[in-house]
Amino acid sequence: MASESSGGTDTLERPESGHDETTQAATSGANDVVIACRGLTKRYRVALGYEIEALSELDLEVRRGEIFAIVGPNGSGKTTTLKLLLGLIFPSEGEAFLLGEPPRSRRAKRRIGFVPEGPFFYQHMSGEEVVRFYGRLCGLRGRDLRDRTEELLKLVGMSKRRDVVMAQCSKGMVQRIGLAAALVNDPDVVLMDEPTSGLDPIGAHEIKELTVRLKEAGKTVLLCSHLLEQVEEVCDRIAILHRGNRLAYGPIDEILQVTDLTELVAMDVSPDAESKLEAMSRETRRQAGEIHCTLKADVEPFDALDVVRGGGGELLRFGRVRESLEDAFIRAVMATSEDGGPVSTDAAEAGAKPSDDGEDKGADEQDQASEGGEEE
Ligand SMILES: Nc1ncnc2c1ncn2[C@@H]1O[C@H](COP(=O)(O)OP(=O)(O)O)[C@@H](O)[C@H]1O
Ligand SMILES: [Mg+2]
Repeated sequence: MASESSGGTDTLERPESGHDETTQAATSGANDVVIACRGLTKRYRVALGYEIEALSELDLEVRRGEIFAIVGPNGSGKTTTLKLLLGLIFPSEGEAFLLGEPPRSRRAKRRIGFVPEGPFFYQHMSGEEVVRFYGRLCGLRGRDLRDRTEELLKLVGMSKRRDVVMAQCSKGMVQRIGLAAALVNDPDVVLMDEPTSGLDPIGAHEIKELTVRLKEAGKTVLLCSHLLEQVEEVCDRIAILHRGNRLAYGPIDEILQVTDLTELVAMDVSPDAESKLEAMSRETRRQAGEIHCTLKADVEPFDALDVVRGGGGELLRFGRVRESLEDAFIRAVMATSEDGGPVSTDAAEAGAKPSDDGEDKGADEQDQASEGGEEE
């Protein structure tokens, strides 16, 4: 299942080098927790006396300065989690905290930025006008507003395209403006729902780079995505959701298992060495003067290394193949299905159940957070 293109590579050490297997656990105090969900559960009423559990007893913590991703297929409860964190809906059970405050607290809201899935703006406004509009809503005026707008347009790579009206913007451009608008209040925490969904590969790559830039600027990022390969490279820790249940949680490097296959990438090896490597590999690929080999299981990896050195080549990568996030996801889902067979992913497909009280209290919209009840 593991593929060398999507999986990373873990460094290999010669057995005699006495490699210490212990990993350095990241130390984090309680102050480092900026988002916390404890037993967070959400049931939506879907019909007379029936409800579905979109999120079941979710526990997770997002730490200061990290990129945390909630991943899972459509319908697994990701947007529900974000809505609960933003105080847009109420939990059926459990609680959530943002920067130590309940989600509806104004103090917390001032310090967060949110990019919804497919942000939508007034179509007649230009990108610059949208950012200025949100800046004004956040109380910026005059020079501060001008400087902040300038800074954000530059950050999201829209300085030169600032005058394009939203109706003419590509999805990628709208996503960038959405991010700029979410950053206008200089938030400590940025929440993003499906930030790369619907973007072409270049657009998706640029949004990934922006996400990393946010982290470098000291911000904490929580993003939700069903595009597993797109979060794999950028996030520090993840939670895998499936039908509202957390199947895996932790540092991505710990969740992705290392396979027993070895990958070797070298360049400028002699033709003779190349054919030797080919004979030692179960799979080889040539690309721009490089040779990529996945070694046969019975080949001693360091023998292949000696072939590269003997053939005058330069070693570019050498290590164990790590499974992709998609592999890890499928493994986690299969482990929850009783017969190991394929399982549907959507919570709704798992079937609505009669609600405990048996009463129809109306559509979930009535459950949306109403005015008032602020913490300040
Ligand atoms: N307002 C709602 N009313 C009823 N069911 C809903 C509502 N919002 C979401 N759901 C259901 O809850 C489950 C989780 O949805 P959602 O959180 O949007 O998932 P994701 O963002 O992972 O795609 C799905 O089965 C969805 O159909
Ligand atoms: Mg969603």
